[in-house]
Amino acid sequence: MSWGVFDSGVGGLTVVHALLERLPNTSLVYLGDTARVPYGIRSVETVRGYAREALRFFLDAAVDGLIVACNTASAVALDIFEEAIDGPVIGVVVPGVHEALSETATHRVGVIGTQATIRSQAYAQRIRELSPRTHVVAAACPLFVPLAEEGWIDGDVPRLVAARYLAPLREARVDTVILGCTHYPLLAGVIGEEMGEGVTLVDSASAVAREAARRETDARVAQVRTAPTPAPQHRFCVTDGGGSFANVASLFLGERLTGLETVELHPHP
Ligand code: DGL
Repeated sequence: MSWGVFDSGVGGLTVVHALLERLPNTSLVYLGDTARVPYGIRSVETVRGYAREALRFFLDAAVDGLIVACNTASAVALDIFEEAIDGPVIGVVVPGVHEALSETATHRVGVIGTQATIRSQAYAQRIRELSPRTHVVAAACPLFVPLAEEGWIDGDVPRLVAARYLAPLREARVDTVILGCTHYPLLAGVIGEEMGEGVTLVDSASAVAREAARRETDARVAQVRTAPTPAPQHRFCVTDGGGSFANVASLFLGERLTGLETVELHPHP
């Protein structure tokens, strides 16, 4: 089975990393919209327009299923992919919420993400639907994205930023925090220290990889195989190859990336 993985930039590689660990024989087509990152500061309509263009790319790439690794796109544009892709479409919100609800003992959950994700209330709404008694405290942490991209993931600067952003979550005494942005797992050390012992951090990357593995097993069970599984092949595509994607990618992937493709996106008719 081949999966498309969509992100606004490099951050979705945290999901790729988790996927490759769980599904080493699966083929991936990664699209990072590096020409237009960040999505998290943009309007819903703008992000939905970008999603329509990414949709066309994945339809042309003929992937069997799609993982929308970008929390912002998952929060405001998942339906665009669900309506058009004839296979499983997995966003990061639902797996993250399920994991948080299974972790929390006090029913006090924090959610952190980009401004667009927090404004959409996608996480808070889903938590309320599934567990009305759970108290949700949400905070946008926009500076975490450039800090992660710069590799400033420990030391005084991220610690001060985290202290400021996470104060409302500490005051609300949440026992679980959803890292609702592709980049935040890289800052998990600082976030965990700031939140203190006994607070569980939910990384949507591993929750999504588990969900993809579950769907892949279902697909395999439903399929009568006539040929052996082909060796996995991966494509890594960006919309602007001028940046430091390949370098930063090694931070996220834990290995060197080769054969990066630059692609042009077009609106889906
Ligand atoms: N990928 C985005 C997300 O997970 C973070 C970076 C951006 O703002 O585009 O929300």
